[in-house]
Amino acid sequence: MNLKDYIASIPDYPAKGVIFRDISPLMGDGAAYREATKQIVDYAKEKQVDMVVGPEARGFIIGCPVAYELGIGFAPARKKGKLPRETIEVDYGLEYGEATLTLHKDAIQPGQRVLICDDLLATGGTIEATIQLIENLGGVVVGCAFLVELTDLHGRDKIKDYDILALMDF
Ligand code: PRP
Ligand code: ADE
Repeated sequence: MNLKDYIASIPDYPAKGVIFRDISPLMGDGAAYREATKQIVDYAKEKQVDMVVGPEARGFIIGCPVAYELGIGFAPARKKGKLPRETIEVDYGLEYGEATLTLHKDAIQPGQRVLICDDLLATGGTIEATIQLIENLGGVVVGCAFLVELTDLHGRDKIKDYDILALMDF
């Protein structure tokens, strides 16, 4: 199975000049979704992960099945105003805008080995902000796993000191 066959490309969405790489065909196919999840789970097992964090919203789609399969917890990093208890926050930029990402203060225990899961690495703004939140709480980011990496946007350069798994490049 070639997972790339399950990514749809939409020109000029959500802004002119952006090619949107849509993972919903992959999620909509049980075998493809399972295969992508399995590849990330195998990576997480090598890294001896204690906790998974996924940034809203598509990071939930990738991170939750990985955490479930590993039998460990999942913490959502959410856009500002969505988490009900005490949070920490970081502002960041992404390919088509700006946002603030937050994490509950008790989401990560100091020393926990954390895997970040998201659908896609573009400019790297989201993953950089997520790393900052986890490290501010004393977590250790042992890996960052994505379905898709947009290599032209060089997001990888922002997180040079971290281990990255990307299942597909565009
Ligand atoms: C998308 C995507 C990644 C991020 C990648 O999320 O799911 O999280 O952008 O871009 P970056 O590397 O330039 O930061 P988005 O903020 O659009 O939110 P969504 O998942 O709620 O659609
Ligand atoms: N998030 C940031 N850039 C994106 C793109 N080109 N396609 C899908 N999600 C994205």
